[in-house]
Amino acid sequence: MARIARRNKVQLEPSDVASRLVSWFATSARDLPWRRTLDPYAVWVSEAMLQQTQVRTVIPYWTRWMQRLPTVQELANAHLDEVLKLWEGLGYYRRARHLHSAARRVIAVQGGHLPVHSDEWLALPGIGRYTAGAIASIAFNEPAPILDGNVARVLSRLMAMAGSPKDRSTSAVLWSQAALIVKAAEALPPPAPLSHAPLVRLSGPCSAVNQSLMELGALVCTPTNPSCPACPLRDQCRAHAMGRSGDFPTVSTRPATTRRTMAAVLWHRSGRWLVRQRPRDAVNGGLWEFPGLECGPGDDPKSVLARWLGVEPGQLALAGTIRHAITRHRISQHFFRLEGPVSRPATPADAEWKTVHDLDALAWTAAHRRALALARS
Ligand code: ADE
Repeated sequence: MARIARRNKVQLEPSDVASRLVSWFATSARDLPWRRTLDPYAVWVSEAMLQQTQVRTVIPYWTRWMQRLPTVQELANAHLDEVLKLWEGLGYYRRARHLHSAARRVIAVQGGHLPVHSDEWLALPGIGRYTAGAIASIAFNEPAPILDGNVARVLSRLMAMAGSPKDRSTSAVLWSQAALIVKAAEALPPPAPLSHAPLVRLSGPCSAVNQSLMELGALVCTPTNPSCPACPLRDQCRAHAMGRSGDFPTVSTRPATTRRTMAAVLWHRSGRWLVRQRPRDAVNGGLWEFPGLECGPGDDPKSVLARWLGVEPGQLALAGTIRHAITRHRISQHFFRLEGPVSRPATPADAEWKTVHDLDALAWTAAHRRALALARS
């Protein structure tokens, strides 16, 4: 009872929350490379990379990308293979393909002018409500809300919001709260340059509020062991008042994992390796791999691969097995070296022979890049 009474006393006043967030950001923001520019293209690239990927990993990718493709025009002119190579290792390659096709659309349809308003950003391929709000607020100080995993955690705790942010109704409430907070920021004065990070540029208080929410989720309001004493919102936080920060957000039950087995061939002939490019619309579309196939439950991978290639199982020698996970799939990928004379070379139709030198220049799926080392050993 006492707990509930205390919880209800906590006032969630959006303008108070917004001004605390802006003040905290002024002293706590990290000096990240994409924060030194207001160029919407640079912000867009950073947001595309930061979805599902940690800041630490993104920094070298973003830096290399901006050196090689500094403008939307250069991205539109680039070949997709080069774009995928710049993205290689970041995963979720659809993000890179979307960036590329959206850049081509900006050049073809909008004469090279990037959108300003979040609604216009939303119309581009691969840009959802989060990314549109992030770009428009960071580059143009639009009071557009953002909600990603970090922000959802901060707001769920602030409101002591039961329910998983993945549920439609919970997410709708969190989006509304994010909108109230960023709207309240509009009335705040323009943020002063950050004394601890003078190269960071801010388009205005809406940018500062949204980036502060992201930063708070990443640095303070962490999934486990949040640093509540360091939080600028601790006096507004309902979960903190209840002593239950760890109970929010409610985690949704994870889908069961599935085991999958693949077999692929490391086939070397006259100084060349047999490789193929994955179809554009497949998972990891456009990336390169050694040819192979998925095995059914209980199948012997070597026999399945031998049958597929039209060779004897005895001609295949296991070079190694690479285990990896994609979303809920736990994949065991067996790589077999093909040895001895092949009387009836049943080269898979979509495969090509490439030199070792060529292989390095291609963008590979993560497991098959690891297999490259096996192939060479
Ligand atoms: N996560 C998503 N967007 C981010 C940004 N702009 N800075 C830091 N972390 C982020």
